[in-house]
Formats: sequence, structure tokens, C-alpha cells
Amino acid sequence: MIQTCLFPAAGYGTRFLPATKSLPKEMLPILTKPLIHYGVDEALEAGMKHMAFVTGRGKRALEDYFDTSYELEHQILGTNKEHLLKDIRNLMNSCKFSFTRQREMKGLGDAINKGRVLTGDEAFGVVLADDLCINESGDGVMTQMLHIYEKYRSSIVAVMEVDRKDTDKYGIVEGRYIEDDLMIVSNMVEKPNPDEAKSNLAIIGRYILTPNIFTHLDNTTPGKNGEIQITDALLKQAKDGIVLAYKFKGKRFDCGSIDGFVEATKYFYEKLKDGNK
Ligand code: G1P
Repeated sequence: MIQTCLFPAAGYGTRFLPATKSLPKEMLPILTKPLIHYGVDEALEAGMKHMAFVTGRGKRALEDYFDTSYELEHQILGTNKEHLLKDIRNLMNSCKFSFTRQREMKGLGDAINKGRVLTGDEAFGVVLADDLCINESGDGVMTQMLHIYEKYRSSIVAVMEVDRKDTDKYGIVEGRYIEDDLMIVSNMVEKPNPDEAKSNLAIIGRYILTPNIFTHLDNTTPGKNGEIQITDALLKQAKDGIVLAYKFKGKRFDCGSIDGFVEATKYFYEKLKDGNK
């Protein structure tokens, strides 16, 4: 139903310096798989087969990851290590990949707008790979959102409740519930101070966007931190029509922070150990 998933991946990942000096933050591994791989898995589960990346300088490792490594393949062919490439081979055979670059860091909204050459004028998913999402009891978050899209055909943001003190790390939404976990957005603000935030419902890095978001992005001027914010463009879309906020089922690890990264590592390690019992 939706073909393309866009992965904005141009950011520096300064919280992980010096590791991210020469390694894209999306390539940091949780156990043996880089963060980006988890994101692509989630999009693929939702039936999206075109993985579109907006990268920047120093991010070539992302392209290499989704390309054949002839030397490596040759070296391990027929050895007992060959199975280690099974996952990534399957993934590479299941979808196509395209890349474009954001030349200047002008914010998430600008990065998404740069992705237009890859998405075309069709609805598309967006995954921010440093938000790693899992749902042990059923569909992944992007699949859950796709089901909502099938019904409402509007832009959707995934949200979760956060501590009040943390509102200044997220886009914060207000709205009116139309189903148990689904609301029509009436307002959204990028990273408000806790004393100004109107709710504690925070956007996490999963979006489905309808193509007229690009018109709104074209007309969005720099906002919070002098950057073009997707939150501001979505608010225009919400005022113009409908944007939905969906309280997803599952768990999200903030792998853009050391705490979240370690938490995710522990979680997957415990799962691995359980699986090997
Ligand atoms: C971005 C968005 C923000 C959203 C967050 C989710 O912020 O601008 O609205 O809540 O992702 O992770 P960033 O974390 O890139 O600063």
C-alpha cells in the first residue's frame, strides 16, 4: 500500500563522539546488527520495499552496508561463518535502496524535504533509526500505523507519554481522541519547555506522511534551534486538514542517548540468551 520508507540519516550523532567521528550513528550496533538494520526490518514488515535514505557527508558506510561486499562474500563462502550474512542478504534481496544527500544540516523537516526526489508525490513512511521500536505481542509500529493509514488516509505521527521534565526533547502534541489510542491533532510544538508544554504526548521517530507535506515544508521557515522542523510543517497540515497521533503498542528505546542504547543492548542480549537456552 505504501511503497517507500524514508530514513533521514544525515545527523552527526554528537552524543556518541568520538565513535561517530567516522562512523554514522545509524551504524552503531545493538549486538551484531546496526540500528539502521532494525529500522529497515520494521519498514519491510509493513510491506515497504523501497528504502530511501537521506544521508550526508561521512555516511558512506550506510550505502556499503546495503551493497554486496564481494571480497567478504568470497572469503566466507562455504565456511561456517556464512550464516552470519544471512539476515542482511535476505534483506538486500527483499527491497531496493536509494540514496540522496542533505548538504547542509538544516533540520529534520529539511532532510525529509530533500527526500522528495526519492519518495515522489506519494504517501511514505519515515523511520528515525535511533528510535528503536519493538512490539513483542504483535505488529511492529510501522505496520500498526499502516493499518491506520488504510482507514484514514492522512498523515500520522507515533506518540508516547513521556515524563513532563522531558518535553523539551520532543515534538509535543495535543488533540482530541477519536479512538482509544488515536487522536486528531489540534496543536503540536517542537521541544517546548516543561512549564510551557500543553501535554506529555511526545512524537517518536515514526511518521506516515501524505505528499502535500512537501508543499507545507516548502513554506516552513526555520523554527526551534533555527532548523526547519517537520513538527511545524505537520501543524500546518493539521490546520489545513487532518493529522493523526497514534499511541503505538510496544516499546521504544532512545538509542540516540547512551542510556537508551545500553537499555536496548541489554534487552536484545537477554532475548538472545533466552533464545539459546
Ligand atoms: C526529532 C523531531 C521531534 C521528535 C523526535 C523523536 O527530534 O524533531 O519532534 O519528537 O525526533 O525522536 P530530534 O530527536 O531529531 O532532535
